Amino acid sequence: MTVQLARSIIKVVLDSSTAQQNIRVCGWVRSVRRGKDVAFITLNDGSCQRSLQVVVETSLLQAPALSNLGTGACIAVGGNLVASPAAGQSWELQADRLELLGGVDAGYPLQKKRHTFEYLRSIAHLRPRANTFGAVFRMRSALAFAVHQFFQERGFLYVHTPIITTNDCEGAGEMFRVTTLDPAVPPVVDGQIDWAQDFFAAKAGLTVSGQLQGELFAMAFSDIYTFGPTFRAENSHTSRHASEFWMIEPEMAFADLARNCEIAEEFFRYLVSYSLAHCGEDLTFFNERIAPGLIERLEQLVRAQFYRVTYSEAIGLLERSGRTFEFPVAWGQDLQSEHERYLTEEVFAGPVFVTDYPQQTKAFYMRLNDDGKTVAAMDLLVPRVGEIIGGSQREERLNVLEQRMMEHGVDPASLDWYLDTRRWGGCPHAGFGLGFERLLMYLTGMENIRDVIPFPRTPGHARF
Ligand code: 4AD
Ligand code: MG
Repeated sequence: MTVQLARSIIKVVLDSSTAQQNIRVCGWVRSVRRGKDVAFITLNDGSCQRSLQVVVETSLLQAPALSNLGTGACIAVGGNLVASPAAGQSWELQADRLELLGGVDAGYPLQKKRHTFEYLRSIAHLRPRANTFGAVFRMRSALAFAVHQFFQERGFLYVHTPIITTNDCEGAGEMFRVTTLDPAVPPVVDGQIDWAQDFFAAKAGLTVSGQLQGELFAMAFSDIYTFGPTFRAENSHTSRHASEFWMIEPEMAFADLARNCEIAEEFFRYLVSYSLAHCGEDLTFFNERIAPGLIERLEQLVRAQFYRVTYSEAIGLLERSGRTFEFPVAWGQDLQSEHERYLTEEVFAGPVFVTDYPQQTKAFYMRLNDDGKTVAAMDLLVPRVGEIIGGSQREERLNVLEQRMMEHGVDPASLDWYLDTRRWGGCPHAGFGLGFERLLMYLTGMENIRDVIPFPRTPGHARF
């Protein structure tokens, strides 16, 4: 038997301006409603939120091969596209042939009813076929394209920074180890594991950020960005942390903190506008089914003023709030997410950059301000999500950088190549990281990071 593969895409079919003879579509059955003479099949191929209604004479469904045609089955259907008398759809397919490509049995877990997101996570291999996840992953794909378009339009170079690395950029000790040593009998010298005998002749791990290598490229190409997976062995069980997530990290030579905030603002606004312009159907779904008021909030964001406050001002606002927070507010302590949410949701009711954090709360590479106490850092906070972007101007002065490294317990000798850019042809530069999943949470209204990444990795979970 030869399989006929030519097919029309359901989105294109549904957007057709005319009736069409003899077309063929393929997809997964969402539901089958059998009447006496005809049956109605709702067919979805993932190309859009809408499904195509297929009208088929019941006689065509008598064949034994079609006995297990039910929700979840994969079929190919041929026939004519005609104007539909049913409300809410312009076209339907009058089928004259139907082929079962993959049957299902009664155990198919994704029956047509509402499932909890928690349950759907346990069937992550099938959830892409559910309405909500169709919308999530179409938007994820569209927004990945938008990220590239934004930077490519502005002449930024896309650089692939390594996934396996020997340096912990953020210095938070959250690297996953990459090793081929036998964990039962690792080579030991002086009571310590001898990493020199490991695959890379050094202690290696999965990257927590491509920034340090990104900076090297900015010192050659001026404006660059990375967009790739990052890994953090952080034992956080929150709805906003994943152990594997995707990050976009632009790095700009000849830029200071103010310029960094400007670009971050322009980028974020662009992505929100892009989703409104290109993902209307999926956004409408989220607006109606997941997060009422979402589209209006996104439209407001496009026009919103992005506020800027220093960390010290933010501490003042929190202290004067009259609120009791779980974590006490004190200058010198990092902001907790309850503090961030209060600032962006209640004080500013919109996006806000918090800048100039105490130097001990931030990574070694951030530029020391003239006060000697704070660094030229910035976090962009947005309602519902909290921190969505983190960045800084970088320390370009060799002696200050070495001093900061030592204070943060980073051995300058281990980053000699990084320090070389400060020795030879360095310049003021800045950059930031946008968490791609946090962006998607913001744009879709989905409340758990596990539901905006295809196969989430969190402590205790790496199935699929
Ligand atoms: O603030 P972070 O840790 O900054 C950096 O990694 C810098 N090297 C970026 C730079 O300046 N080039 O992370 C940046 C963003 C956060 O604001 C957040 O959106 C996201 O990455 N992020 C996470 N997203 C999901 N799960 C996690 N565990 C995340 N940790 C950070
Ligand atoms: Mg951060």
